[in-house]
Amino acid sequence: METNRRDFIGASLAFAAMAGCTAPRCGEERKCGTGRPFSFDSRCTLRMPMPGLKEPVNFFVIGDTHFGFHDSRDDAYADNYKRMAKWPAPKDALAKALDRAKKAQTDVVVLVGDIISFPTLANLDHLRGELDRAGLPWLYVAGNHDWHFEGESGSDLEQRARWTERRLKPLYQGGNPIMYSRMVKGVRMVMIDNSAYHVLPEQLAFWKQEAAKGDPIALFMHIPLWVEGWSITTCGNPKWGAATDPYWEIERRERWADRLMPSTYAFREAVFNTPNLVGVFTGHIHNLLVGQAGQALLFSVPTNRTGACMEVRLSPASPTGAFT
Ligand SMILES: [Fe+2]
Repeated sequence: METNRRDFIGASLAFAAMAGCTAPRCGEERKCGTGRPFSFDSRCTLRMPMPGLKEPVNFFVIGDTHFGFHDSRDDAYADNYKRMAKWPAPKDALAKALDRAKKAQTDVVVLVGDIISFPTLANLDHLRGELDRAGLPWLYVAGNHDWHFEGESGSDLEQRARWTERRLKPLYQGGNPIMYSRMVKGVRMVMIDNSAYHVLPEQLAFWKQEAAKGDPIALFMHIPLWVEGWSITTCGNPKWGAATDPYWEIERRERWADRLMPSTYAFREAVFNTPNLVGVFTGHIHNLLVGQAGQALLFSVPTNRTGACMEVRLSPASPTGAFT
């Protein structure tokens, strides 16, 4: 999405699909949920019971910092990053969230994309430096800006593959950049790259394979899955396509394809029908966004530009969802 507009639209999108509950904000407490109960406190801490857990689990979800560092090593790409470089995040934005995660003795930090606005070496050095300084376990999945130098040739999927191979690869710590999972204290944490909106058939197959293992499973991606009432810039909106692409000229990229790959829609259905789903955690919208589809809960985190993030505290629960 296009950054300077996006900051203003998230609040109006939030909660379109959540029946029986007013929209939560990070700053006021709400207890919500027609399936499993959950609540947000004043610091955007999400508390939720989760059947199948043997012990509490804590993780931090951080997205959309949009660092804009660049230096002479990438002068050749100056034209490709100049627009996004106009809105750089403060240098300590990520550090604020990581410091909070460290104080909370979190089990893992999950980066859900757009931590950088373009793949310059200076951006990657800063990101990696912050992660190393914090010394916390972390998982990473790309957003649509992490791999994008505006004005470059090739489709989004080609550019993603190119810059993942050239620069982003170490961030995956050996995982497959488009799909991998890690077990964290009994939660299967699955990273799926949907930063080009499409979900590939092999990613769909991977999700089904992981979900069938039966553990509590949490999904992390950059772009929220579409639910009725949500914008065109979510994943799986049936109106998505070349005719509805709002930003291709501004972002100097190829126009979206005519339609999403069918595996994208099948993936969305599969996720929404996963019985042991903790939730779907994403970024991209830049404001807190909460939704429900069937029993699936969807959370999009506020932009980390201000240091904001979402802390998630899962507690063991009975099969009915009550805290134990
Ligand atoms: Fe973003």
